[in-house]
Amino acid sequence: MFEAKQAMMLLLAGVLCAACDSRNGPGTEAAIPGTAGYDPEKIELAKRSNCFSCHAMEKKMIGPSFKDIAARYRGNAAAEESLVFKVAKGSSGAWGSIPMPANSPPVTDADTRALVKFVLSL
Ligand code: HEC
Repeated sequence: MFEAKQAMMLLLAGVLCAACDSRNGPGTEAAIPGTAGYDPEKIELAKRSNCFSCHAMEKKMIGPSFKDIAARYRGNAAAEESLVFKVAKGSSGAWGSIPMPANSPPVTDADTRALVKFVLSL
């Protein structure tokens, strides 16, 4: 039992140490995996707006990948308005059984629109 506890502590220390890399000051924050090569300003906005807790650029997480969303709505002129509304107010049933809660507030309408334009441009 003691050994299992020790192993847990070691594991925990490892995880904490991985996180301390992000304390080296501005500009050296841990990057979100899978965001390299995309518009850094938009990535920063999505990060600040908490989108990456559920979404990734190219991989399905809790929510669909941003690339998959772009592919689904490509050529759909009404998509921007509809998605701005859904990101702000929440969405359910479009991709599966997990709903997206409302993001606004705290995300402003202007930021929501910028994020939706970015996703649809992918
Ligand atoms: C708590 C988790 C969570 C957060 C935070 C979150 N999303 Fe989502 N998002 C989801 C889920 C789950 C879905 C699928 C919902 C559905 O099936 O209707 C989704 C769907 C979407 C869609 C597609 C909606 C549709 O109708 O096709 C867009 C666009 C989107 N999210 C953008 C964003 C943006 C931009 C942010 C950051 C402001 C964000 N999401 C934050 C979980 C999240």
